[in-house]
Amino acid sequence: MTRSSVWDVAEKPSQVQRRGRYLPDSMPHPAKMLPALAATAVEAYTGPGDLVLDPMCGIGTTLVEAAHLGRDAIGIEYEPRWAALAQANVGHARDHGAAGRAEVLVGDCRHLRSVVPADAAGQVAMILTSPPYGASTHGRIRTGSQCVRKSDYRYSADRANLAHRGLDEILASMTAMFREASFVLSPGGVVVLTARPYRRFGVLVDLPGRLVGAAEAGGFELVERNVALLCARRRDRLVPRASFFQLNEVRRARQHGAPLRVIAHEDVLVFARAS
Ligand SMILES: C[S@@+](CC[C@H](N)C(=O)[O-])C[C@H]1O[C@@H](n2cnc3c(N)ncnc32)[C@H](O)[C@@H]1O
Repeated sequence: MTRSSVWDVAEKPSQVQRRGRYLPDSMPHPAKMLPALAATAVEAYTGPGDLVLDPMCGIGTTLVEAAHLGRDAIGIEYEPRWAALAQANVGHARDHGAAGRAEVLVGDCRHLRSVVPADAAGQVAMILTSPPYGASTHGRIRTGSQCVRKSDYRYSADRANLAHRGLDEILASMTAMFREASFVLSPGGVVVLTARPYRRFGVLVDLPGRLVGAAEAGGFELVERNVALLCARRRDRLVPRASFFQLNEVRRARQHGAPLRVIAHEDVLVFARAS
């Protein structure tokens, strides 16, 4: 049976979680992991001194949180811009007392075996990552009296970045990543993916469910499915932290009579090698 649990990771808004802990240049990255989510995963599935890998590390949230918790980490990122920022964020963490060390490499998650240093093979206790998807759901919004302006909603202009590919190609890439993961994981090591369902043209895309299929094709099985709450709990009510895009989508659907609700959680899928 698959185990499950609820993680409280949005008691503080994302900006508050990152303030002072990440360099201000991190803000424009369109889809950062919540620091509290990364920290919860690191604490749950690794111990001090363990090695953590994020093969799509963005601005390095996994690495920074791992370093603050005394784990070492390796990050892989396709875009040199984000890889440099991830390394700078790790330096910032070390300047603020983080004990762990982390190295960031520019590369492709589908070939992580050839990117990760040879001495890390079989040493990684946890791979923690979130795939890029749904560019329409990302970005920063500024509202004026006459208009709404969207910025920072792309990872790059490079069409080969997985964020610009269709869902089928992203899923095939995740299967490739799982196949390679077997070679770097320690015995008993796990792969943790965070992803949320999203809507495209009003239709719900069950990305977490599709990722389970991609993992199984890569030789892994789901052992835990957790819910990371993207809202805060205040006594008898939930405080939503929905993005402009989520609210916009739901409002539009309701105007057309569809009783949609905002999605207020992210799935945390935990995989082990299939037995
Ligand atoms: C959802 S973001 C990850 C964000 C990260 N968890 C953080 O907190 O900053 C996905 C990242 O994957 C990167 N990416 C896209 N294609 C890739 C590939 N083939 N290999 C490695 N990274 C890739 C994107 O540039 C993006 O930074």
